[in-house]
Amino acid sequence: MLIDLTQADQHCVVVGDGGAGKSAFLQTWMASMADQQTAHELRFMVVDYRRALMGVVPEPYVGAYASDASAAAEYARQLAAGLAGRLPPPDISRRDLRRRDWWTGPELYLVIDDYDLVNMPGTESPIAPLVSYIPHAREIGFHIVLSRRSGGMARALSSDPVISRIREAGAAALILSSDPREGALFGDQRGAEMPPGRGVLVRRGRERELVQVLLNDDYAEEAGV
Ligand SMILES: Nc1ncnc2c1ncn2[C@@H]1O[C@H](COP(=O)(O)OP(=O)(O)O)[C@@H](O)[C@H]1O
Ligand SMILES: [Mg+2]
Repeated sequence: MLIDLTQADQHCVVVGDGGAGKSAFLQTWMASMADQQTAHELRFMVVDYRRALMGVVPEPYVGAYASDASAAAEYARQLAAGLAGRLPPPDISRRDLRRRDWWTGPELYLVIDDYDLVNMPGTESPIAPLVSYIPHAREIGFHIVLSRRSGGMARALSSDPVISRIREAGAAALILSSDPREGALFGDQRGAEMPPGRGVLVRRGRERELVQVLLNDDYAEEAGV
């Protein structure tokens, strides 16, 4: 099962403590997306300070790869400029809005592993220039997929500009092994201790599901790639 961010949910949040399988999920998800779409249809912008996602997909799929804050800030500025050109013209009809034919290019996915390292309290977030585009995901083909530890998640849902916008815009959430004492992590879903890769998938308009993430190697074997 592949989490599709072009339908009901436009963004995705992965929550879990160290070793829960956040990076492994992102690896498998990116690899399977790249397996199903061409690099003309799909482009990843990666922010990954721990370099866990390096080399996961072939190079043409990677528009930018930031492993530190200054690179992330530079790429976010460039990406924001590109996205500004995808905003719909003011006089557009509803039908044309659905057709999305005023821009061409790949669907863009900003993938951020360990978001808690990227948005440190008291510093300016390098991805701040992208916040205003989060609600326009569908029209401009821009999605954020981020992972974060569970500690402080409840607070981040109300106070972090990126996470709160993502949630308002509509996001799938994968809750991997997390501290139950943190309280509700997404909607009313609380964390629980679980084996690596096991989690609860919360999506709009669907029953929540207990899932087990395949490791990328297993996925590759199954898909015969
Ligand atoms: N889906 C999975 N199935 C089996 N083992 C997993 C799975 N996801 C992670 N693991 C194991 O847990 C370890 C930590 O996973 P990782 O993705 O690095 O966690 P995190 O990024 O949340 O700290 C991996 O090295 C792997 O051995
Ligand atoms: Mg990790």
